[in-house]
Amino acid sequence: MNLAELNKVALAMTAPGKGILAADESTGTIKKRFDAINVECTEDNRRDYREMLFRAAEGMRHISGVILYDETIWQKAKDGTPLVEIIKKAGSIPGIKVDEGTKPLPNCPGELITAGLDKLPDRLPKYYEQGARFAKWRAVIDIGAGIPSYAAISTNAHALARYAALCQAAQIVPIVEPEVLMDGDHDIDRCYEVTEFVLKETFQQLYYQKVALEGMVLKPNMAISGKKSAKKASVEEVAEKTVKMLKACVPGAVPGIAFLSGGQSDEEATAHLDAMNKIGNLPWSLTFSYGRALQHAPQKAWSGKSENVAAAQRVFAHRAAMNGLASRGQWKQDLEKKAA
Ligand code: 13P
Repeated sequence: MNLAELNKVALAMTAPGKGILAADESTGTIKKRFDAINVECTEDNRRDYREMLFRAAEGMRHISGVILYDETIWQKAKDGTPLVEIIKKAGSIPGIKVDEGTKPLPNCPGELITAGLDKLPDRLPKYYEQGARFAKWRAVIDIGAGIPSYAAISTNAHALARYAALCQAAQIVPIVEPEVLMDGDHDIDRCYEVTEFVLKETFQQLYYQKVALEGMVLKPNMAISGKKSAKKASVEEVAEKTVKMLKACVPGAVPGIAFLSGGQSDEEATAHLDAMNKIGNLPWSLTFSYGRALQHAPQKAWSGKSENVAAAQRVFAHRAAMNGLASRGQWKQDLEKKAA
């Protein structure tokens, strides 16, 4: 393992002013997104949609890396150029989602474990050869009555660390993503308490399994109220509590943290990131690795029609630029109104 090189990639992924585009929806998930805009979920449509994003030069200026799904990393654009080459030409680093989704966790009703470790040592060198310099593995922790259990937290943290160690051995930077879902009716303090526990367990496992923190990127959720919570925390409270939580859990050796959006509205995801960076004096860089909060608007603008491509690319460029500013703590809400 060349740790200096892994560190260089991790720093580039989380460089100020830029963040990561999570375009790694599984076929089932992208079908849901396409259903919402009445687009048929064919291989060609998935390719056309993603090609449109990767060719959006203005937007890609703010994108340090793109997380791809297995199908996409092997795909070619309409003119025969590999999509990976288009991403590289845009100055961005190709990455790959390597987990194989979730399965029910035995003895833990309602809880999940992420699958995909078994074949990982064989798959990683192939992805490296194809141009991937980082990978992603998502663990899912739900908050509800009597959950999460310690069994779910510890088995998922163990799998995350196993994945991270395998990635580093293959000279690939692991994005370590333990996502505490915001689906429930819990308040921000419950989210804080669960996420703190999950992060502490995750870093413990990373340590036991000798993962080099300098060569990884953390992708956490924010401390935020559940979607069905009766009491919605303000932007300032989310920022303050998330920074406090991360400072208590994430060693300064980690080069960067890139948040998931997790169901926040586009503008909320930007405002939260911005407010955290306005606090300043942080031991790591804080940026975005958004899926929905970057793609929701361009998906709607595109709606599967080639005549909408330029407009959709402009919408994507706007969201990417706003999040780029937020990664420096330089976003202002009136920039949104001006664009509208
Ligand atoms: P969202 O930003 O839509 O939560 O997706 C990010 C991601 O990659 C989740 O694994």
